[in-house]
Amino acid sequence: MPLSEHIRRIHITDTLSDEEALAFKERKYVLLHSDKKRLGIRTMRNQGALIKPDGNLLLVLLKDILDQDLCEDAHKQLRQVNGEPSNRPEIIGEGAMMLDANKDGMVGEQMRVATSVMKVYGGKTDFLGYYRYKNSAPGVVHCDVTAWTKSKPDIFTNVMPWIQEINKVYQTFLPEEYARQKAYVDRIPEDRKIPKTAFTTLYVLKNAPTACHTDDMDIREGFGCMASLGLFSGAEICFPKYKVCVDYQPTDVILADVHEVHGNFPVTEGERVSCVFFCREGQHECPA
Ligand SMILES: [Fe+2]
Repeated sequence: MPLSEHIRRIHITDTLSDEEALAFKERKYVLLHSDKKRLGIRTMRNQGALIKPDGNLLLVLLKDILDQDLCEDAHKQLRQVNGEPSNRPEIIGEGAMMLDANKDGMVGEQMRVATSVMKVYGGKTDFLGYYRYKNSAPGVVHCDVTAWTKSKPDIFTNVMPWIQEINKVYQTFLPEEYARQKAYVDRIPEDRKIPKTAFTTLYVLKNAPTACHTDDMDIREGFGCMASLGLFSGAEICFPKYKVCVDYQPTDVILADVHEVHGNFPVTEGERVSCVFFCREGQHECPA
């Protein structure tokens, strides 16, 4: 972790146990702002790095690092996200999965996120870029550009400079972690990854708070890379084990260990589009 000497380091000493932290994930706990006081969660708003008690990096927040015009352009594009997050029940929260009612009002046969839950949730999410789908027939490696990318190719093209700028921030500030991720990405065929980056895919969320979870779509050796767009308050990302949350705003980048339990507080005001940049697990097996 040859983090730049200019980044202030904060060493975390007060944590929950692994079991206590995992319980947040197992319950798909939806964080409330009142939890900050109840759980003693502090909010990070300034540039700096948080170091876990074992010496590993939890996260680094880089303030005002992106070009404002690029961010505003990206916001215009990505705020068009309109997908339902029903395929990721782990981010919606406790009780999201149930036997849904069919249109005729009869109880359905499949466990899925109930339509009634989706209406209350209100957030929109979708994937941009390339993806390896895991529910394909045995022996078939199913890879494609995502449905959103296929239907709105201009959005993907237009946000490319913004994605590549964020990639550069990752490469500059966490060179070792970036190199590990890039070494994996170099094994992926050219037309299955985002050009000139260590990413294959963006997960885009609009006013969509996430229940406590760990990321599981990305490669294990990767580090989470996130940025937000819009004009909003609230929606801080929280790592309950470390009793800390981070308010990352447009033009900021947060690089975080997203394999630790995390979730977001609700948006209290405005519109927030957030973006997770990652490398899809198993993507190197995609045919060229
Ligand atoms: Fe996440």
